Amino acid sequence: MVSETKHKWWQETVFYEIYMASFQDSNGDGIGDFRGLTDRLDYLQDLGVNGLWITPFYPSPKVDNGYDVADYFNVDPDFGNLSDFDNFIEQAHARNIKVIIDVVLNHVSTEHLWFKQAVSDRKSKYRDYFFFQDEPNGRESFFGGSAWQKEADGPQVYYHKFAPEQADLNWQNKAVREDMQAVLKFWLDRGVDGFRFDVINFLSCNGVGEENSSDVSGKQIHSHDIDQPGIFECISEICTFVRDYSKDCFLVGEVGHEELSKLVPYQSDDLLDVVFNFNLGSIASFDIGNVHEQLVAMEDRQGGLPTIFFNSHDMPRSMSRLCQNNAAHAAALAALTLTARGVSFLYFGEEIGLADFIPENIHEMRDVQAINHYQLALDEGKTKSQAYGRALKECRDKSRLYMQWNSHKFSGFSSSIPWIGEGAPNSNMPNVEAQINDPDSLLHWYKMLIALRRECPALNLGRYDVLSLDKGLLTFVRRWQNQILHIMINFCDVKYAFNHNPSHEVLASKGLNLGEPDFLLPFGTLITREVQDVC
Ligand code: NOJ
Ligand code: CA
Repeated sequence: MVSETKHKWWQETVFYEIYMASFQDSNGDGIGDFRGLTDRLDYLQDLGVNGLWITPFYPSPKVDNGYDVADYFNVDPDFGNLSDFDNFIEQAHARNIKVIIDVVLNHVSTEHLWFKQAVSDRKSKYRDYFFFQDEPNGRESFFGGSAWQKEADGPQVYYHKFAPEQADLNWQNKAVREDMQAVLKFWLDRGVDGFRFDVINFLSCNGVGEENSSDVSGKQIHSHDIDQPGIFECISEICTFVRDYSKDCFLVGEVGHEELSKLVPYQSDDLLDVVFNFNLGSIASFDIGNVHEQLVAMEDRQGGLPTIFFNSHDMPRSMSRLCQNNAAHAAALAALTLTARGVSFLYFGEEIGLADFIPENIHEMRDVQAINHYQLALDEGKTKSQAYGRALKECRDKSRLYMQWNSHKFSGFSSSIPWIGEGAPNSNMPNVEAQINDPDSLLHWYKMLIALRRECPALNLGRYDVLSLDKGLLTFVRRWQNQILHIMINFCDVKYAFNHNPSHEVLASKGLNLGEPDFLLPFGTLITREVQDVC
């Protein structure tokens, strides 16, 4: 169980994920970078977020947009250099914004020196950093197809859970563990405040021998390639190393599961501070009954603090996936994200209501997973149009379009062609410039909710006194010491009539009518405070 008696900085932090290539370009090459990001720190400070998660920025061939790291000790020239990074950290800290960085421990790029040495010299100690064998077994990659690839100039195959260019590391090898500790130390020394550990329950701590099982339709179940025996010891060793070196460091794990029961064991005092709650965050469609059920389960069954988010670079944007492009629904979801119990993680662009970017053909797709599925479909004899359909379903580019700063071509992102979305119709997308001075905008609603979250300890630290659902109206009461907040969010498509308690001070509302009668419009929100407390 995670102890909640002493507060940690991250319990009172609203995080914001920056997809490095898509946030702000500074030099006109169409790729977001550290200088651009640093220039936007004032915007982020004004928005009110006080924690940033930045996706991988290390030198990389970018087969998987940086999740294929070729050198853990540097910055990819597309994103700048180490002094740009240091300056960014300094400037973020000067604004009281903490920074956590993404670390990929499961695999390295096949361009990494370890892998290059492993294939160029079969006697090299680096051969045992990876899994080479004479024949593949039946394991499949998470991007589709076999998880084995023949080495270019040798007789064996090597193991990769993701793209062939992302070779899995052998976490049974002590040298791998020590080398990765050196990586973590390097970035802690440069001032980072924590890590987001990529697919952390995927580490191969028990080899690659056992075959995965299949379901009745023949689809592979990842029964032996993740959550392997030894995984908890392995993660505990990593987390303990970090905490011994830097005790305030925040550790959030991407544990690849959508079931709460499988996420919960990874969170404890010796393991991760928090895990991403995909049981709620990655739901495919919005059903308030299910959302309520997940919140109740998280309250009852999760020992530590949950995380609350509905967006990331790996899933379609909530505006399209959950809100049917309805800005009122998006506002209600924002209220939930920022008032429910858990560490809130926002994803760039959600504050202005960005919807999915839909690449119109395979040439507009950048995501390796989509491109891989396109090819697999063609190999299976499907037509180009069927292959496009399958690729689009798998395509994670939907949430990766560059930030919409204004309505100009390429949204002021870059004067040249952006790395993604050259054909995207910027003019009819929401953008920052159009909302920044509009008090009724989604952006202002986010700002207000973030400010409230940061001001009111009950929203960060309090448990639920009440957590109930009545005909689509989600109600919860958050209490911390003498501060008692009441939150009502109407997820129903009709207005909800109620009797407002006049002794409750209204802190924030949307779609609220007070008097004759009191009601909340569909997707309306009311946040009130019992008056005896001081917020
Ligand atoms: C999870 C990351 O979020 C995703 O973008 C990436 O493709 C895989 N891990 C592999 O590193
Ligand atoms: Ca750039």
